Amino acid sequence: MSTVAEIFETMEYGPAPESDKEALSWLAKHERVFGHYINGAWTEPGKLFDVVNPATNKTIARVTDGTADDVDAAVKAARAALPAWKALAPHARARHLYALARGVQKHARLLAVLESMDNGKSIRETRDIDVPLVARHFYHHAGWAQLLDTEFEGYEAIGVVGQIIPWNFPLLMLAWKIAPALAGGNTLVLKPAEFTPLTALCFAEIAHEAGIPPGVINIVNGHGETGAAIVNHPEVDKIAFTGSTEVGRIIRKATAGSGKKLSLELGGKSPFIVYDDADLDSVVEGVVDAIWFNQGQVCCAGSRLLVQEGVADKLVAKLRSRMEKLRLGSPLDKAVDMGAIVAPVQLDRIRGLVQQGVNEGATMWQPSWACPTDGCFYPPTLFTDVQPSSTIAQVEIFGPVLVTMTFRTPEESVALANNTPYGLAASVWTESINLALDIAPKLKAGVVWVNSTNLFDAAAGFGGYRESGFGREGGREGMWEYVKRIPPNTSRAAAKASDVHRSSPIADRQSPAATRPSPLPAIDRTPKLFIGGKQARPDQGYTRRILSPSGAVVGEAPEGNRKDIRNAVEAAHAAAGKWARATGHNRGQILYYVAENLAVREQEFAKRIDAMTGCGPRRAKQEVDASISRLFTYAAWADKYDGAVHSVPIRGVAIAMNEPIGVMGIVCPDEFPLLGMISLVAPAIATGNTTVVVPSSPYPLAATDFYSILETSDVPAGVVNIVTGDKDPLAKVLAEHDDLEAIWYFGARDGVKAVELASASNMKRTWATWHDRSWLDLGDGEGREFLRAATHVKNVWVPYGE
Ligand code: NAI
Ligand code: MG
Repeated sequence: MSTVAEIFETMEYGPAPESDKEALSWLAKHERVFGHYINGAWTEPGKLFDVVNPATNKTIARVTDGTADDVDAAVKAARAALPAWKALAPHARARHLYALARGVQKHARLLAVLESMDNGKSIRETRDIDVPLVARHFYHHAGWAQLLDTEFEGYEAIGVVGQIIPWNFPLLMLAWKIAPALAGGNTLVLKPAEFTPLTALCFAEIAHEAGIPPGVINIVNGHGETGAAIVNHPEVDKIAFTGSTEVGRIIRKATAGSGKKLSLELGGKSPFIVYDDADLDSVVEGVVDAIWFNQGQVCCAGSRLLVQEGVADKLVAKLRSRMEKLRLGSPLDKAVDMGAIVAPVQLDRIRGLVQQGVNEGATMWQPSWACPTDGCFYPPTLFTDVQPSSTIAQVEIFGPVLVTMTFRTPEESVALANNTPYGLAASVWTESINLALDIAPKLKAGVVWVNSTNLFDAAAGFGGYRESGFGREGGREGMWEYVKRIPPNTSRAAAKASDVHRSSPIADRQSPAATRPSPLPAIDRTPKLFIGGKQARPDQGYTRRILSPSGAVVGEAPEGNRKDIRNAVEAAHAAAGKWARATGHNRGQILYYVAENLAVREQEFAKRIDAMTGCGPRRAKQEVDASISRLFTYAAWADKYDGAVHSVPIRGVAIAMNEPIGVMGIVCPDEFPLLGMISLVAPAIATGNTTVVVPSSPYPLAATDFYSILETSDVPAGVVNIVTGDKDPLAKVLAEHDDLEAIWYFGARDGVKAVELASASNMKRTWATWHDRSWLDLGDGEGREFLRAATHVKNVWVPYGE
């Protein structure tokens, strides 16, 4: 035993272990063997796999590996429980969620210790971060449950939700998934990660005690195959996944064309940007939280340190001395900063990537103290002299490894930060508020932390751009992932549609063009495409004849091909930055101008629509009138689609900004050749996107006639590009295009499937549907649903004060 004098001399920490007694007795109560939790009861254990404590490499329990039959039983239980759960009064569901929050708090210590034993993360983190955030998540969503009918009017539960989560925040990811699902009135089947099943099982018991009705929450354990069985189950209506981009891509493909709603929270390689005026001591503590929190096994870990040249050496020196003082060891020791890596396979992966970094010529540095050798431990590691293109600068390491690069100017910092296929989070360090708020919108990331890092809260949305996935978790924006619009009942929709334009003359005679001589000359224009603000000759000279229902030639439209789409995407990219930065007022003015110019040519457009479709003059006029009104709608929205300031529990704000997605492909419905196109293009450009549009294939002439309206309405070149031709082949080219950030497709189910499959190449956001829409109806044809689909929410966290 050391004397006080000796301790005073060395300043050594003594051991401060958290007791594992309660966790051990919970495991003993279950004889350390678990079945699944299905329909409110434990199943008999089946084929078992080991649950290992990575800090000791000892097996602490055995858990059942879920089969396809287990998944089926769980989905059936969830399906059976759905009607009653969905029909509960919002207040009743709110009470259930509240009870879950209380249950988590009551068992906070047990959950924290169990999580540390199962995952290897430090008790300091599970006790002070993970478990409190879990309780907070259930409280916050008890609130959304209470407010569901008023705040999400016209929306309802999606149905049975399948949820698959990773091992890095086992209980927290469970809460992020379960709380909004239940608040929205859904029932669910959740699969924890195979490395970390225990806290989910403990949570099942807490939910059971709290009186959650049988079948509402089902927990099935297992490996990737069990997850795949959930993904592929025909009675699952939505999949929510957090994990690797690789598996996210598999799930995107597996659900293509199934109609399942999908949200994906995937990997990242998030930049941590330090400008030369930053407070370097705060930066050092920020880095500790960014990359050594949870041993760097964090999807939004600040794993790329980008430092302005002038302060780089100073910062690296400070970091090294701080790293010497980090404490690594038993996760249950309350004075430990870093615990164990989750499993040997992850440890090997980290070692392999670090070795690759050394081989590729970067300089590796680790503190002088020795790591424990009896568990899965890895020391904090710092790389300097890193090339931006090297493996360690590009690949998600998911370990305590930081790579450092330098930049000279703010522009260079943005380019370097965005030089990644990912787009999850970013951290910006500067004492200049001007600089911070100039940089934040320029970063391709779903979350930006100003002078802070790894801040999370249930009230603020979290989620990525690009290969980091799509969808948000948390806050109002996260709730949208768990509700769907109640489709207008068709008779109601039809009634509403006739309300839209009361001033339309009532001509009830249906007079299809087929019965009248066409007033238009047969071929009156040279058909072209519209690319980069100009009427452009198609790559190949082919055209298609557009016939009236009676077979008369109405006109011709060019057959666009792959090359034309590529040119159009290029033009849309060239226009993207400037259009995104245009003010809402400015974009609104341009949309009003388009509407004005269309109104001048109303009769001409109506005739053309009637000639192509044979819908009759009354319907054709109604379509043009509705198109003008729709342009007004989005001109109105252009400066009104506000973001939010979320009430997060810090001294500061989280600003939720609606941002354009970027360059979007828009494949229009066949029907309503003008209104269908305007209903999609107007919200996309009103929110600052640029577009490549494939108009109605059978009736493209409303679009080709529209070129001249775009030309005379101050729409900047490249904001709207139109390529006519065969819908599905063109849609496929768009969906496969790596420089396109989103695609909307309105067509047949096979086309939906092809688009969703091909979109997996760069994980672009999709909105693809084969369901009919009443384009004339105001509820179905326009509004916030379209604006949401055209935007990302970026949360910028700005703490106040010194
Ligand atoms: P993973 O993506 O394979 O595992 C995540 C979850 O998906 C687990 O529950 C797993 O059982 C399940 N799963 C695996 N294959 C599936 C399939 N085909 N269908 C449905 N579900 C499936 O991640 P893994 O293998 O644990 O880690 C590999 C790498 O992924 C890590 O080194 C890290 O880079 C990254 N990762 C990223 C995470 C994040 O939060 N962004 C979380 C976990 C891992
Ligand atoms: Mg895996």
